[in-house]
Amino acid sequence: MNKARSSYLKSPQLQLFPMQKGDVREVAELESRCYEFPWTENIFLDCLGVGYCCWVYRLNAKIVGYGIMSVAVGEAHILNICVESELRRQGLGRRILERLLTLARSHRADTVFLEVRASNRAAQYLYQSVGFNEVGVRRGYYPAKKEREDAIVLALSLLSRRDNDTGNR
Ligand SMILES: CC(C)(COP(=O)(O)OP(=O)(O)OC[C@H]1O[C@@H](n2cnc3c(N)ncnc32)[C@H](O)[C@@H]1OP(=O)(O)O)[C@@H](O)C(=O)NCCC(=O)NCCS
Repeated sequence: MNKARSSYLKSPQLQLFPMQKGDVREVAELESRCYEFPWTENIFLDCLGVGYCCWVYRLNAKIVGYGIMSVAVGEAHILNICVESELRRQGLGRRILERLLTLARSHRADTVFLEVRASNRAAQYLYQSVGFNEVGVRRGYYPAKKEREDAIVLALSLLSRRDNDTGNR
């Protein structure tokens, strides 16, 4: 790993904030750079409106990553994790994921679920690296250039990982 680039994770200029409505345009711009079929600004606004856990990481004030998760009785769903492409493979994706898992535990979720494109190996490796397991497939779940693409459904049990976190949102 490139040491100069990897140092940003320890930088005091990398800061975590709850996502605000005023962040949504910048978040949607990052989303558009990272996904072929990006969420719209309205989807992010809806996530904020219904009270999902929505967090952004800023590096030198610029949004470089975000994570979104819904939590209901007993279970949480990770809906989106994204990192600026030139800052990947340095641990920020895992840091965002761990943050969401801490929040899920603090909300007393037993299980965390997510869907990931069958072709998205990077994300699958990330989720597997913290213990997610495949529990199903949703056929044709995602839009794709040709026809549609399957989603792999992954789940992580938090029952053996309970702690006394008191995180918010
Ligand atoms: C998936 C994503 C969030 C990972 O972010 P990241 O900051 O690169 O992740 P990390 O550096 O924390 O990587 C953690 C682990 O994930 C795995 N991983 C991440 N990217 C990988 C890649 N391109 N190839 C193989 N493994 C990868 C590795 O196990 C890695 O650990 P290692 O670097 O010690 O080997 C990022 O690639 C991204 O934003 N992709 C576009 C949006 C997206 O697809 N989001 C997921 C939707 S379900």
